Amino acid sequence: MSKLYINGGSRLSGELIVHGAKNSVLPILAATILCKGECVIHNCPNLSDVDSSVRILEHLGCSCRREGSTIVINSDGLSRFDIPDELMQEMRSSIVWLGAIAGRLGRARLSSPGGCELGPRPIDLHLSALGRLGMQIIDNHGYIDCVAKGRLRGNDIHLAFPSVGATENIMLAAVYAQGKTVISNAAKEPEIVDLQNFLNRAGARICGAGNDKIIIEGVRSLHGAEHTVIPDRIVTATYMSAASVTGGEVLLKGVLSEQLLSVISVFGEMGCDVSYSHNEIKLSAPHRLSRFSGVQSLVYPGFPTDAGPLIVAAATVAQGSSMFIENIFENRYKYIGELRRLGAKIKTADRVAVIDGVDRLSGARVNSTDLRGGAALIIAGLAAHGKTEIDKIFHIDRGYENIEENLRQLGADIKRK
Ligand code: UD1
Repeated sequence: MSKLYINGGSRLSGELIVHGAKNSVLPILAATILCKGECVIHNCPNLSDVDSSVRILEHLGCSCRREGSTIVINSDGLSRFDIPDELMQEMRSSIVWLGAIAGRLGRARLSSPGGCELGPRPIDLHLSALGRLGMQIIDNHGYIDCVAKGRLRGNDIHLAFPSVGATENIMLAAVYAQGKTVISNAAKEPEIVDLQNFLNRAGARICGAGNDKIIIEGVRSLHGAEHTVIPDRIVTATYMSAASVTGGEVLLKGVLSEQLLSVISVFGEMGCDVSYSHNEIKLSAPHRLSRFSGVQSLVYPGFPTDAGPLIVAAATVAQGSSMFIENIFENRYKYIGELRRLGAKIKTADRVAVIDGVDRLSGARVNSTDLRGGAALIIAGLAAHGKTEIDKIFHIDRGYENIEENLRQLGADIKRK
């Protein structure tokens, strides 16, 4: 099992092109099974979660080929409605296949996703919404069986919480439903808009994504489509944070800066000079970061929960005391114990983390606990004096393509062995 080895203290400087968004490409790959003919998806990052999605597509009977960052999918041979346990366990977000498979075949069988590294992983909103479209759901010894009697029927669905995955599942299942589906209190994240854009290119009739009401008019068939996945806003935030803790400067290209305003404002508060145009963000960090006063994770356009660990890592070496509140996931602070091994001073109580910036972190052996927590350890390792060794980096590989090569290109002393 390989590890990352960082010799901290180098100032990062240079430019990078940000890869496609993991959280967009996964539901879009699931959506390709609704289309007859060939779908061509550009800007697919090379990530283990994307590989897992391709394995699911192939298991279902679809053909897939990768040409660089493009994946070409033909789902005309789709012959199965089940996803076995081992494929489900590879990806935290595999529940999104439920709506896609059931939408296409009127039947789906998935193993229950169970818990995850961010805490319990309820899917009640997904299941009750699919029930409202006419799907009968049976919890069958660890398997979820969905069966539709005839064509699904559009309905009004109010989400008690604007869940990203549940909104995507409803969109996927409702595309072929008879009549109109209206999702209220829908998630507004940019990845939902990207899914709508892909589905509409394939012939769907969806409007409203990006607002809290999404309307889906059911259609009889979708055709193949070509689509370019949006850039990854959390990867962008990661490189901003990595540069910020080293007093560095980074120009990030191919981004959509309007999706990152909440993140940009926090780095501004920490004393970074952040300038941006539509597709580029340039961050220049001071010699030492300042504290941020209070940041809390919220649904979009609020501060993203996935960027929480990235700014907590930056705050460990800032001047003064910062406070972060995690509102979306219950159990997102496991990585903080690992940051403490590097000398970070962080207190947590329930959802609140108070970070007292220290003059210096020192390198240590640590374990990734989850994807963004792993990225936080890289950031802290870059800031630390001495050598940091990060184990369990498979978590990091779920969401970052070539992270050590990119950081090396910026001047970091980091290698994988
Ligand atoms: C997606 C993202 C993830 C991000 C999250 C919030 C993907 C692949 N993952 O995850 O990176 O952190 O959005 O922006 O896109 N909940 C319920 N019942 C449900 C569903 C969700 O209680 O049926 C709760 C969850 O436990 C959590 C909250 O709602 O506390 C948010 O979850 P959700 O928006 O569904 O996140 P995901 O789609 O899983």
